[in-house]
Amino acid sequence: MSLKTIVSIVGARPQFIKSAPVSRVLSAHFRTLLIHTGQHYDYGMSDIFFDEMQIHPPDFNLGVGGGLHGEQTGRMLIELEKVLAEVMPHYVLVYGDTNSTLAGALASAKAGIPLAHVEAGLRSYNRTMPEEINRVLTDHISTLLFCPTDTAVENLTKEGIVNGVYRVGDVMYDALLHNLAIARARSQVLDRLSLKKGEYALATVHRAANTDNAERMRLILDGLSALTMQIVFPVHPRTRKMIQEWGLAANSNVFFIEPQGYFDILMLQENADCILTDSGGMQKEAYLLGVRCITLREETEWVETVASGWNYLAGVDRQAIRTAFETWHPQGERPLPYGDGQAAEQICEILSNELR
Ligand code: UD1
Repeated sequence: MSLKTIVSIVGARPQFIKSAPVSRVLSAHFRTLLIHTGQHYDYGMSDIFFDEMQIHPPDFNLGVGGGLHGEQTGRMLIELEKVLAEVMPHYVLVYGDTNSTLAGALASAKAGIPLAHVEAGLRSYNRTMPEEINRVLTDHISTLLFCPTDTAVENLTKEGIVNGVYRVGDVMYDALLHNLAIARARSQVLDRLSLKKGEYALATVHRAANTDNAERMRLILDGLSALTMQIVFPVHPRTRKMIQEWGLAANSNVFFIEPQGYFDILMLQENADCILTDSGGMQKEAYLLGVRCITLREETEWVETVASGWNYLAGVDRQAIRTAFETWHPQGERPLPYGDGQAAEQICEILSNELR
């Protein structure tokens, strides 16, 4: 009997991490193909993750990087339609909330191919975020919805989505468990940057709401500059471009470095005194690693990290960032809302039943 074909569509950095555990499990049971939209294309934003996590190189790379949101999503849709018509998979998997997710979801739904959304049901309830639009629309056209948390399942129920919904846990937790020991053994980032555990903070910023707003970006850099600790700041290409465009700067305690690979960023997180970020993935990783996180946004999709007291929503207010950094040291329990590290196995089992 020939194997059924499952296509995963990825394009941006967090999706390479999310798809790695899923593709590893699925490839033992299905013919798995990977389409890379090309949304992220620099070595440090893309290839390094394939190398480190031993992800099979993409079977198709659409080369659609850069451009405005509509243009980027539209070009992906045009190219994806052609590839899906050629491959005619039995299922398409999309991950998370990027423009690649939405383009993959639309292409698959329009081609009549069943669609599974990994990391379904997350909501910030802030419709000005491109990611919120991407995830709401993707959820509403998905056949299977793989939720990381109970809250995600409840969010879908509120929108009337109840069929095909499974709470499988978070594939990023799978990835973390699989890679943490490897990262500890291999990464030399602390030595390379002359950093000591607990003696620096790690910052990242890449959300459009922050980077594309000169005032918010200035407040964040001022906030970081006012902290009495060395801040290591891996700079996303979008952020670098906007900092230059706005002519912004930070004090010498803020140390800008290139985007880091998965192993190095895990080690930079695990050993930091504090993480300051607007990234969803890093809020979760901070929580799982037991590092306090100050989130540079007004709301979060990962509400469990806030409810447990380990994530503080400071927005971009200088004083709020500083007060939290100096006075807030969470110590409470960290319940595990993200499953048991077997989300990929559960996804595989559900897909196997669907395709039987
Ligand atoms: C995207 C996702 C965001 C995700 C993030 C992870 C959307 C709407 N946003 O944001 O949800 O958290 O990825 O990083 O999909 N660029 C480079 N080199 C690269 C990649 C991008 O120079 O390798 C440049 C692009 O040309 C563009 C800018 O960075 O000018 C932004 O890239 P884009 O992919 O549009 O969005 P992200 O900000 O990365």
